[in-house]
Amino acid sequence: MSAQQQAPVLAIDGPTASGKGTVCRLLAARLGFHLLDSGAIYRAFALAVADRSIEDHEISRLQEEAQALSLEFRGDRVWLDGRDATEAIRAEAVGMRASRLSALPEVRSALLARQRAFARPPGLVADGRDMGTVVFTEARLKVFLTATVDVRAARRAVQRPGEDPSAIAEAIRARDRQDRERAVAPLRPAADSIMLDNAGHVPGRTVEVVLALWRQQVKAQG
Ligand code: C5P
Repeated sequence: MSAQQQAPVLAIDGPTASGKGTVCRLLAARLGFHLLDSGAIYRAFALAVADRSIEDHEISRLQEEAQALSLEFRGDRVWLDGRDATEAIRAEAVGMRASRLSALPEVRSALLARQRAFARPPGLVADGRDMGTVVFTEARLKVFLTATVDVRAARRAVQRPGEDPSAIAEAIRARDRQDRERAVAPLRPAADSIMLDNAGHVPGRTVEVVLALWRQQVKAQG
């Protein structure tokens, strides 16, 4: 029996600032499941290689670093190389570098097993870009959250007061482009995923919709 059969996976994918993080956290709490924030892994990796001054073209060093990454999730804190990096990995520059580095197939495959290891009983809510298409193809339910750039930029602006809203929207557009246009694991819904607009909803409403879908799936699949 595969890990994904033993531990049911709820995969939530979507673009940057679509509100996935909040929705996934709430879902994991409601279901009593583990939570995988795969973006945090890519971000921590980007920060680790910046600290070691590894350049984007040094593929074998990047690959080694991805395999050796000293990363630990302690509750909602992210520890990297023995220090709390929770806030540091959230910087937009780190997100942008994560987006560039995550386009490299060597990096993606080196980080794959680490992500799959999160699928443990009683179950997992997996948040990312390729949870349904690559990492957890056997997920019981796949949801793709959407929202317009304006809605997502407004959401980010609340999280980052003082930053220029038009610069925030431009950064979101650039990252969307980079994530959608890459050759490996591009951001796109899986063929069997359910599209949900997370724009007008408060997170609690989206959570209720996903929970209802989850219960239906679990009932149908036994
Ligand atoms: O979700 P978050 O904004 O934290 O992700 C940072 C970057 O990491 C994304 O822009 C994306 O390029 C990359 N990523 C990825 N695959 C994932 C999660 C994140 O390529 N499953």
